[in-house]
Amino acid sequence: MLIEITTLSELTIDGKLSLGTNESSKGLFAFYGDELRTWFHKQRAEHDAIMVGAQTVRNDDPELTVRYATGPNPLRIVTASDGDLPLDARLLNDGIPTMVVVSQHASVSAIKALRAKQSVEVVVCGDERVDLNRLMLILWERGLRTLIVEGGSRLLHSLFEAKLVSTIIIKHIPVISGAQDAPNYLRAEGQPSHLTLSRWRIVEWFVVDGVGISIYRGEQTHS
Ligand SMILES: NC(=O)c1ccc[n+]([C@@H]2O[C@H](COP(=O)([O-])OP(=O)(O)OC[C@H]3O[C@@H](n4cnc5c(N)ncnc54)[C@H](OP(=O)(O)O)[C@@H]3O)[C@@H](O)[C@H]2O)c1
Repeated sequence: MLIEITTLSELTIDGKLSLGTNESSKGLFAFYGDELRTWFHKQRAEHDAIMVGAQTVRNDDPELTVRYATGPNPLRIVTASDGDLPLDARLLNDGIPTMVVVSQHASVSAIKALRAKQSVEVVVCGDERVDLNRLMLILWERGLRTLIVEGGSRLLHSLFEAKLVSTIIIKHIPVISGAQDAPNYLRAEGQPSHLTLSRWRIVEWFVVDGVGISIYRGEQTHS
């Protein structure tokens, strides 16, 4: 049994996740219309949990809630190996449940500061970094069956590398970022990659508010 993971990202024509280094991907929302916003939030509502990496919280300060569609908020999950998150981040302070997943590497003080927040749960999983395979088992045991991952590029890369992703959704924002140093869709962190030429099958393709949406499914077997 494996939790069903969908990634959902917006990409510029030149394959960037934002308009510059350390810039919020919210800069891309300027190219959204209401219909796309509603479609996007509906995807969130259809999943049990939603996950982002620590750097996305640092750069974007996202809420990760369902606001432009009707439906329940998915459980918010942030991977932050050292527990290093801005303590004033919105998702740590709005009273809606958030799970922060850290590794054994996180300091006692970082964990204590996060646990002091009402509605924040800290889960320790992994030695140096968050162990994503083990995390998926923990989430499964809690009854979570579907997870939507909204990035960023390092978390996405690790999930693909671990062969945990079933479905890819990309919103093709019709703009060229032009920023060479903006994050690409996927970013490896030194380890040899098994991803070269991994094959995905396009299963749906449509346009909402002038933004192309493509949905792919993996052809590989998942471990
Ligand atoms: N366009 C979009 O759809 C979209 C969506 C989301 C984000 N973004 C953009 O993406 C950028 C952030 O991407 P990013 O690659 O720098 O960071 P990221 O993927 O958001 O976060 C990476 C961090 O996650 C933590 N982590 C813990 N365990 C991990 C594991 N097993 N594998 C990978 N990461 C793990 C690490 O934090 P520690 O090092 O602290 O342990 C790591 O530094 C931002 O600029 C944001 O705007 C774009």
